[in-house]
Amino acid sequence: MSEPADSPPTSHRVFFALWPDDATRSALLRATRQAVQDCGGRPIAKERLHLTVAFLGELTPAGLALARSVPPVRVGAFDLTLDAVGVWPESRILWAAPLDPPAALGDLEATLWDGLATQGFVPADRVYRPHVTLARRARPIEATVVPVRWGVGDLALVESLPDGRNVHYEVLERWAL
Ligand code: 2AM
Repeated sequence: MSEPADSPPTSHRVFFALWPDDATRSALLRATRQAVQDCGGRPIAKERLHLTVAFLGELTPAGLALARSVPPVRVGAFDLTLDAVGVWPESRILWAAPLDPPAALGDLEATLWDGLATQGFVPADRVYRPHVTLARRARPIEATVVPVRWGVGDLALVESLPDGRNVHYEVLERWAL
C-alpha cells in the first residue's frame, strides 16, 4: 500500500550501536546496581542498555536505506571491558564505560563514519565518548564497578520508537564485524 501523496514522510530516529547479549546485560546490571541506586536517577531498563557508535537522528525512509547500505565494517570481533562508572554533570547521565577503549572500537567508529560520509551523513562536531547510559537525571556520585567483559561480535542498526512516556528500541539489522 502506498502513502497518500500529501502525507508527511515517515521519519525514523536511528543509530548504530553495540547491542549486548542477555548475559552481558545481566552482568552489567549486577555490577552497576548500587551505583544506579545511589545516583537517585531514572534507571534505563535492562533491555535498552547499549553503546552508541554513531548517532544519525531523524531519517527519511530513503535516508534509512542509505544508512543501511554502509555496513558491514570488518574490524573483527573484539573485547570491551566496562570498568568505569561516572556521572556527567552537564547531561546528568550515569554511565558505564571502558577506561581504556580498545583500538578496534575507535577503528569501527572511524570507518563507519567514513562510509556514512560518502553517503552524505555528517557526524556531530564533538568528541566520541563511548559509554552505556545507565540512568538519567543522576546526581553526582563516586562509584567503582566490578569490571564487565563484553565480547563484541556485531554492529546493530537500531530504531528508537516512542512507547508511551518512554522509548522502545528495535534492532533493524545486525552485521558481523
Ligand atoms: P545517551 O544515552 O548518552 O543520551 C539513543 O538515543 C542513543 O543515541 C543513546 O545512546 C544516546 O546517547 C544517543 N544519542 C542521542 N542523541 C545523540 C546525539 N545528539 N549525539 C550522539 N548520540 C546521541
